[in-house]
Parts: sequence; C-alpha cells; structure tokens
Amino acid sequence: MVNVERFIDEAVRKIQQAAGVEKVVMALSGGVDSSVCAALAARAIGDALIPIYVDTGLMRKGETERIRSLFADVGLLVVDASDEFFRALEGITDPEEKRKAIGEKFIRIFEREAKRTGATMLLQGTIYPDRIESEGGIKSHHNVGGMPLDIEFKGVIEPLADLYKDEVRDVAGGLGLPAEIQHRMPFPGPGLAVRVLGEVTREKIAIVREANAIVEECLVEKFHPWQCFAALIGLGTGVKGDVRLHGWIVAVRAVQSRDGMTADPLLLPYETLSQMATRITAEIPGVSRVVYDVTPKPPATIEYE
Ligand code: XMP
Repeated sequence: MVNVERFIDEAVRKIQQAAGVEKVVMALSGGVDSSVCAALAARAIGDALIPIYVDTGLMRKGETERIRSLFADVGLLVVDASDEFFRALEGITDPEEKRKAIGEKFIRIFEREAKRTGATMLLQGTIYPDRIESEGGIKSHHNVGGMPLDIEFKGVIEPLADLYKDEVRDVAGGLGLPAEIQHRMPFPGPGLAVRVLGEVTREKIAIVREANAIVEECLVEKFHPWQCFAALIGLGTGVKGDVRLHGWIVAVRAVQSRDGMTADPLLLPYETLSQMATRITAEIPGVSRVVYDVTPKPPATIEYE
C-alpha cells in the first residue's frame, strides 16, 4: 500500500522536474486516474497544465456535460472530435486495430492541441496494470501500446505508472478530490468502442450507450460493483410487438475485482437481472435479447474486446 502523503510530494516534485518550463497537455477523461493526474499536475505546475477533454463520441451518456461542470474552474479545453473518431474507425473490425486507431487519433488530436497552445510535453494517467497487460501482450491499452511511435512530444510524464487502481483511489482521497471521482468505476480509454463487437457505427454506439446507462442505474448504487456495463455482442432473432425482429443481443457484465487483473462475476438476484432485461428491451428499440455474463477473469477479460 502506498504512503499517500509521501507519494503526493514525490509525484509533485517529479512532475516539476520533468516539465521544467514547458507547457504540458493532458487528457482529462474524468475517471479517477486522469483526475488524480490533473490534481497532482495542477499542484506541481499550475497554469502550465492544459487539461483537455476529448469528446470522442464513444463516451457514456451525459459524460461530456458532467465533465464540463466538474472541471469548470481548471481551464478545461473541450474538443468535439466525434466525427473524426467515427471516420477513423470505419471498416475496422479487429479489436487491436480499433485500439490502435483510437490511440493514434488521440495522440494526433493532442499534438494538434499542443501546437495550438504551445505545449511540448504530454502527461498521462497510465497505471501499473495498463503497463503489465500491454507488455504481456494481452491487449494494447490505448494509452500505452496503441500510442504511435512517431509521437511529436519532447516527453511523456506518467506519475501513476507504478500504482494499482485502489492506490490511485487512496491518492485521490489524499488530494481531497470529490467522492464521486474517487469511487468512480473504471471506464476504458477506447470507450464504448470496445463494448461493441466488430465495426463501430454511430447506431451501435447509441444503443450500447443507452444500455450502459440502464445497467449503471440498476446496479451501481445498490450493489457497488467494481465495474459494470453492457456490450453489444451480436444480432439474433427476437419477436417484438408480434413481429419477428433481427435484434441486438446485449450482454451485461458486472464484476468484483481488486485491480482488474482478475475478476469474479457478481452474484445478482434473479429479480434484478430480470428487471434489467425488461428495461433494456423495452427502452431500446433495436434490442431483442439480454444475457448475463457469469465468466470470471481469467479466462474471460472484463471487457469484450
Ligand atoms: P480487461 O478487459 O483487460 O480490463 O480485463 C481490465 C480493466 O482495464 C480496462 N480496460 C482498458 N482501459 N484502455 C484503458 O484505459 C483500454 O484499452 C482498456 N481495455 C480494458 C477495463 O475496463 C477494466 O477495468
């Protein structure tokens, strides 16, 4: 377990050393990792930090508005890049290709914003499990293995690179961040793109966004899962309003975990599962079937891609 006060002091010093007199851009997603990074960097370098929220079009329901209001006072730059992301993802079906395309887009947007703002350094909230899983070849998390090699920054600063998620949450507490941020479920950098199997389209993302919102509403406050979400896993035959429907199959996943390296499915009451299935199929027109995933990690990963 990390000594929070010492970690904060050392991280602030390291960020100051690494940044020098340069301006630093960072991706602020509003998750605990990037929020902690931003708070550390704001302490370390003040106005030289330029936090940027990229609306990829792949975010959760209401997320952009939420981030805007949460970080209204820190000079947050909001970049609407959803058209660019959907275009970059056209025709891509392979999960690793998706991650690479998203990582590449992110970096290019950051290079662009860095040029515009005169920043030369990039700050990232990469944590220890991201590195392990990318180095181990399990999958390239978009903020590590997916990063293009011809990156134009003078340097990359990763103050959380040795921490596990629960340690990051402790640091968030030490920094006095709101409980909403400290306890937020993890959300993958590539966003909802890894929660639709195969090609990413606006239609699929709109459906999975609604399904994710319903799953969170049904489970977060009542069961406090480490992570829960919905994924679109394919098409199947169904019947809605007496008409046969080739509809989407939504998989619901809810897990307990310490650090995301291993995970166990949450044992949910049948009534809760049934309510979720009813809401998802009733509220989302194109969905005809809902299944609950009871596979631990390993062998399954938490996300579907
Ligand atoms: P997996 O699916 O690898 O997920 O069992 C472990 C944890 O990591 C999150 N995850 C990601 N986070 N970029 C991220 O920043 C990614 O590409 C990525 N893939 C998975 C996942 O949501 C879970 O919390």
